[in-house]
This record gives sequence, structure tokens and C-alpha cells, in this order.
Amino acid sequence: MRTQVGIIGAGPAGLLLSHLLHLRGISSVVLERRSRAYVERRVRAGVLEQGTVDTLVEAGVGARLLREGLPHQGIELRYDGQSHRVAFEKLVPGRSITVYGQQEVVKDLIAARLEAGGDVRFEIEDVAAHSLEAEPYLTFGGERLDCDVIAGCDGFHGVSRPSIPPGVLQVFEREYPFAWLGILARVAPSSEELIYARTERGFALHSMRSPTVSRFYLQVPPDAGVDEWPDERIWAELKARLETVPGFTLETGEIFEKGVTPMRAFVAEPMQYGRLYLAGDAAHIVPPTGAKGLNLAVADVRVLTEALDRFFATGSADLLDSYSESCLKRVWRAQHFSWWMTTLLHTFDSDDAYGRRLQLSYLDYVTSSEAAATTLAENYVGLP
Ligand code: FAD
Ligand code: DHB
Repeated sequence: MRTQVGIIGAGPAGLLLSHLLHLRGISSVVLERRSRAYVERRVRAGVLEQGTVDTLVEAGVGARLLREGLPHQGIELRYDGQSHRVAFEKLVPGRSITVYGQQEVVKDLIAARLEAGGDVRFEIEDVAAHSLEAEPYLTFGGERLDCDVIAGCDGFHGVSRPSIPPGVLQVFEREYPFAWLGILARVAPSSEELIYARTERGFALHSMRSPTVSRFYLQVPPDAGVDEWPDERIWAELKARLETVPGFTLETGEIFEKGVTPMRAFVAEPMQYGRLYLAGDAAHIVPPTGAKGLNLAVADVRVLTEALDRFFATGSADLLDSYSESCLKRVWRAQHFSWWMTTLLHTFDSDDAYGRRLQLSYLDYVTSSEAAATTLAENYVGLP
């Protein structure tokens, strides 16, 4: 069996790459370890930058996103008994974000691939990548797939990054001393905009998925299990961290999804080896406070698509050779922004009273200086 691009992983990166390549007449096969139902139900990110929305719309997979996605012109920062709005329409005119669940993006992409006769295979458990330096191929279930190029889109725990020989990659990483407990609840959002709340009890985030479904996150200890968080405890903690300004009441409802996400940062450089190119979480992870993970995956795929298009159309590998370098500028900007948002809004056990005053002072600066607020807004909506 032979294809031009063998893609490992049917997350947003792998599926979007396969779709964009198809639009340019380049063949691919996507191999995914999980079932279709599993990847379509996996609840993760929700904030799409303008550039991500534009990419999906231009690729013809944005109809439902435009219909059901929730455009946002600002976010709220809440701390020390005060609310402050970061107004995108004023600070970064013409740029905004859209709230639309990652699994909806995944559903739309799978539907588009299958409708176009795309080869996306689920429940393939034993994918291995071989001969990365020249004439690469993938093996799985006794089959062999020869390809010109392999795209490693299999997330942080995938097989593609570990298939690169030891000593090639330089790895940068940081573990945070806390995790996020994320929930979905059947209740109308209590606020029209996202609320990023810093309290002495820890961070909380109020987000949403639709007019009837709300999404929340709580900073929790790194080893927290969902069993320790019965529904009543979650609502009590969300109220304690969000009902901190006059007139705000948090509406509660049935919780139908709970998960704990460890908080870590990770970058592997370069994002390529021989004929293997890593995209998305396979190459880098950010703590979710800046809402950048999914958007970075889409940005990598845009760059990789251009490079592969040039390679297959002209035989020139110049854009492929510079793929990693082209992606890493954005990756490191997102790393810095995500670290900055995380340290601004979370409580750290290592912080003393002095450290907490510094954090509050910085929040006051961000919410009172237009220059500082613009820095936040510009990074949040995403670089062009
Ligand atoms: P993934 O979505 O991880 O997709 C990789 C795919 O590869 C998966 O379908 C996986 O099953 C498959 N795969 C793995 N190994 C193999 C293998 N050996 N063979 C075949 N297939 C394989 N970002 C935010 O901005 N906000 C958030 O709230 C947020 N929450 C998150 C919660 C969790 C639990 C996680 C893990 C991530 C979260 N992220 C969040 C990050 C964001 O979801 C990711 O950045 C995004 O999913 C990256 O897309 P991807 O396609 O690169 O990787
Ligand atoms: C959501 C996730 C994030 O990481 C974030 O910063 C904002 C919103 C969400 O899932 O809605």
C-alpha cells in the first residue's frame, strides 16, 4: 500500500492536515488508535483564534462553526473583588475569538474526510514508523504503508516523537505544581464572556459551549482524581472562586463530564527528523490558561501543508527543510504567553505574601494600562 503522506493520529492536527492536503490533490492515510466515537467525544479545548476559524472556513469545514460557534469580543479578569474587561474590539480592532468545542471541530473534519472518500482508519493500535531518513513507511496490524513523508500528529503520548533516534531532539519542559479539573454542565452560562478568576483559593475559569451548556475549570492539586470531586464540592468551589464580585450569581446544573488535565509545558526541537514532521501536541504542549494548544496545532498544519504542496508540486524541499524553524517562533510566543497567563492567575504554594502582592500588582497593571492590556489581547486573539 502506498500514499504520499502517512498521518499518525486523528486529532485536530492529523484530520486538518489530511483535509488540506486533499484540497491540494495530495493523498494521505490517517491512522488513529482510538475509535471514531471516542475521538468525537473527547472533550478538550474551546477557544478558536481568528486565524483558526479562517483556516477552517476557507477549507470548507466551517459551516457549522459559523452557525453554532459563539463569537467573543472580550474576556473578563476577576480578582480581589473586582471585574475588569479586556475589550478586544477596542484593543485589537477587527480581531476576536470564537468559542466552539474541539470535539465539534473533530466531528466536522471527520465528516468532511469521509464525505470526500478520505482514508481515515480508527482503532489501529500498533502503528510504528520506520526508515525515517529515506523511503519511510508505517507498519500496523501486519500491513505496510509506504509514504513519501510521515506526519506525526499523534499528540504528546504518541509513537512518532519517540521514533526519532536518541540525541537528535532537544527537549524543554516544565511541570506545574497543579492540574485543572474541567467540567461540562447543562446550565446556561452565568456570564456572556469568559471569566478568568484569580483567588486566594486558586484559579477558576468560566467558559461555555452553547446557550445551554457551560464549561468550567478549577485549579486543583496535581494528583487530584475526579472521585475526590463530587458535584456538590465542584459547585461550592466554583461559587467560592467566582461569586466574588457584587451582583454575580453562578447558576448550577447537571454535570455530565469531568476530567483532570495535568499542567505542563513542553517543546521538542527540531520538529522534524528526516522525512518525519511533527505537528501539534506531538511536538509541543502549553498549559491551557492561554487557550493556545489547539490553535498551535492548526498553525503547524498550515505551515506543513504549504511545505508539502511545494514539495509535491516542484520537488523542492526548501519549505520542508525550514518547517521547524517556521513553526517554532509562534510556538515559543505561545509558550511565553501561556506561562505568563498561568503565573498571573494561579496560586503557587511556593508563593509567600510578597509574591501574592506582586501578582495582584501585575493584575492591576494589566487592567489599568492600555499598553499592558493590548499585550494580553493581542496574544489571546493570536498573532496573524
Ligand atoms: P491530539 O488532539 O492529542 O490528537 C492526537 C491523536 O493521536 C489522538 O486522537 C490520539 O488518540 C492519537 N494517537 C495517539 N497515539 C497514537 C498512536 N500510537 N497511534 C495512532 N494514533 C495515536 N487546549 C486548550 O487550549 N484548552 C484546553 O482546555 C485544553 N484542554 C485539554 C485537555 C486535555 C486532557 C488534553 C490532553 C489537552 C487539552 N488541550 C487544551 C490542548 C489541546 O486539546 C491540544 O493542544 C490539541 O488536542 C492538539 O491537537 P493534536 O491533534 O496535536 O493532538
Ligand atoms: C477553554 C479552555 C481554555 O484552556 C481556556 O483558556 C479558555 C476556554 C474552554 O474549554 O472553553
